[in-house]
Amino acid sequence: MTTLGVIILSGLINLTAADKDTCDLHAAVGQNLTLPFVHEVMAKSEVLRWTHNNTIILLRQRGKVSVGRTEDISATGSLLLRNLGFSSAGIYQVHVLNVNGTLAKAWTGRLCVMDKVPKPQVTYTCDLKSGAINLKCHIAKTQPSLFSWTLNGKTLSSETKQTLSVSLAQLEGERSFACSAANRVSQEKSDTVRPTCESPPPPTICLASKIAAALLAGGAGVIVVLLIFVIVLCRSHVRIKSQMQRGDEGEARMISLNKRESDSIGREYETLIPTEDSAPRGPDSPPGACYETEAQTENRPEQSTAVGGQLTPVPKPRTKGPRTPNI
Ligand SMILES: *[C@@H]1O[C@H](CO)[C@@H](O)[C@H](O)[C@H]1NC(C)=O
Ligand SMILES: *[C@@H]1O[C@H](CO)[C@@H](O)[C@H](O)[C@H]1NC(C)=O
Ligand SMILES: *[C@@H]1O[C@H](CO)[C@@H](O)[C@H](O)[C@H]1NC(C)=O
Repeated sequence: MTTLGVIILSGLINLTAADKDTCDLHAAVGQNLTLPFVHEVMAKSEVLRWTHNNTIILLRQRGKVSVGRTEDISATGSLLLRNLGFSSAGIYQVHVLNVNGTLAKAWTGRLCVMDKVPKPQVTYTCDLKSGAINLKCHIAKTQPSLFSWTLNGKTLSSETKQTLSVSLAQLEGERSFACSAANRVSQEKSDTVRPTCESPPPPTICLASKIAAALLAGGAGVIVVLLIFVIVLCRSHVRIKSQMQRGDEGEARMISLNKRESDSIGREYETLIPTEDSAPRGPDSPPGACYETEAQTENRPEQSTAVGGQLTPVPKPRTKGPRTPNI
């Protein structure tokens, strides 16, 4: 008990100048405290008198205790205070008087009583924007406390604030944090915390979306270019076709058509489809002319074998015309 009191009195935490002025002693509620007074050669004839706030709490004269309890007095005259409460705070004084009434020794001290610091708790937030993790040492009651931090069990001597900021880069590997909160009478350590922050996803997402946007834009551009290309191709093809149709009739026309058949018959067939359902066109209309020649070429055995499957769909509507008379 005495050692505990002495340890706390000797200064668990360094006192600041301001607090030194107000309190000589700090103790926790519920604690036992021995007031630090030592009178080595205590004679039985001497009078020992302890006061608290000018009220006598112990008086011993000629070896007899008239106020207080004998067991609370040590051989050197120090006084044990049991189970401290907030009312135990205040000014304590001791006087030792000689037989002839002169003062042999005195001491005065002011005692402050406070609650023990509660066990702190570490919380953290991951600030991915700044690439840091922010830890905070929480204590239930807001009271003046000193904080300290440990990283993997080692005290971070320069970190004495309630918050701690660590860059995410420093978090690689297993990192455990703990904080301690302390006041003048006690110190409590938190449980260790192993923070997990997702390794910077926002930049990745940002990059991915940018790439996606670029791909989309690029894709759209390619599609537009392709469309223009196709339109130009179609136009030039139609132009060529109409020129040819306008130009020659008969054998020469057919020969040129046959040359192109392998690659262009499909397209010609497509352009012809819409007109097939309508009434038969006059011989002057260019598509009709094209159609007529095709129907004629189909009847030729060598040509139909030469182009094979490509020609077979073409004559279908026409079979009514030329073939029925043959049956
Ligand atoms: C204070 O002293 C009393 C009696 O000496 C003892 O029962 C009690 O446990 C002590 N309290 C503390 C906190 O040490
Ligand atoms: C003694 O005085 C202090 C203030 O200085 C007060 O907090 C405490 O309650 C007082 N105690 C008694 C028993 O009067
Ligand atoms: C009182 O007694 C003490 C020791 O017992 C002595 O040193 C001191 O001189 C005395 N004073 C007077 C005035 O007699």
